[in-house]
Amino acid sequence: MKTVGILCGGGDAPGLNAVIRAVVKYGAGQLGWQLIGIEDSFNGVFEHPFRIQVLTPVSCRGLLQRGGTILGTTNHGDPFHYEGGHDYSLNVVRGLEQLGIEGLIVIGGDGTMAICQELIERHGLKIVGVPKTIDNDLYATDVTFGFQSAVDCATDALDRLHTTAASHDRVQVLEVMGRDTGWIALHAGMSGGADVVIVPEIPWEAERVVRKIEERKAIGRPFSIVIVAEGAVPTGEALVPGKAGQRVVEAIERLSPGAEVRLTVLGHLQRGGSPVAFDRLLATRLGVGAVDLVQAGRWGEMSRLKNGRIDGVPIREAISMLRRISPDDELVRAARATGIEFGG
Ligand code: F6P
Repeated sequence: MKTVGILCGGGDAPGLNAVIRAVVKYGAGQLGWQLIGIEDSFNGVFEHPFRIQVLTPVSCRGLLQRGGTILGTTNHGDPFHYEGGHDYSLNVVRGLEQLGIEGLIVIGGDGTMAICQELIERHGLKIVGVPKTIDNDLYATDVTFGFQSAVDCATDALDRLHTTAASHDRVQVLEVMGRDTGWIALHAGMSGGADVVIVPEIPWEAERVVRKIEERKAIGRPFSIVIVAEGAVPTGEALVPGKAGQRVVEAIERLSPGAEVRLTVLGHLQRGGSPVAFDRLLATRLGVGAVDLVQAGRWGEMSRLKNGRIDGVPIREAISMLRRISPDDELVRAARATGIEFGG
């Protein structure tokens, strides 16, 4: 019997459980594998005692719509730099040997995939990846699961901010996640009717943001909605972590003294809760794709969606660069064409 391990790495994202369910239903239910779930990323297999779960189609019932991950995850799970920089990577190898695990399916973002590549190159581990992140910044896949759930959450927040902004003639600023990229801000901003969308890929100028707010006032729209990605920076300035939205608020208040401005930081609401239907479907397809890669012996590859189809790509290639918004992207053009101001 083939024994395969499965674990999650990095931050959680809606759809992790749906991937686990698909892998278990197909791998264990149909192909007869033994599936061992490893808890809390790689930590569950190099810390003692091991933290594992034998996963079966019965134990994985009801997982499709459940948020979070039944296996737990951590972004302090890099075995090469564990707690103060110790290299525990050989313990991962030994742990897997002890458990009789032939290879791993690892669900993670770019950081986790980089760890996988190092484990492959330095210790010859057999790993197949599944791309996850709400940030949607993995270039090798058209989209990562979790992203659409985050976008829907941010869009719902914009809808709510709209009604209160309009009632009070206020400027409502919503800060969203995305790390170094602005995909959540752009998609939610366009879907939620934001007037200003501020993303890391396009540095912003306060004058342009305020001009847009003033133009709206002049045409009888005395309120405005601004969405800002957490990694956004004013032109010529450095990032101040945790302050992206606050800086926009302060800039508007400075240049438009009468304006009533309010800030909402959406935070981890974007990562919690049930995956939306799109992410359940994508997670299921990526999970099945990962099992197919293992069956075909295509270790070292990551399951991904490319041009609407699931296939595999070497993890090495998948982590070679980030997917960022290009200022001449069709999406940016459509946003500008419908009156959205980017501040730059
Ligand atoms: O990468 C996913 C993400 O949610 C980013 O958007 C965000 O910058 C980061 O993780 C937050 O990490 P933590 O959960 O450790 O605060």
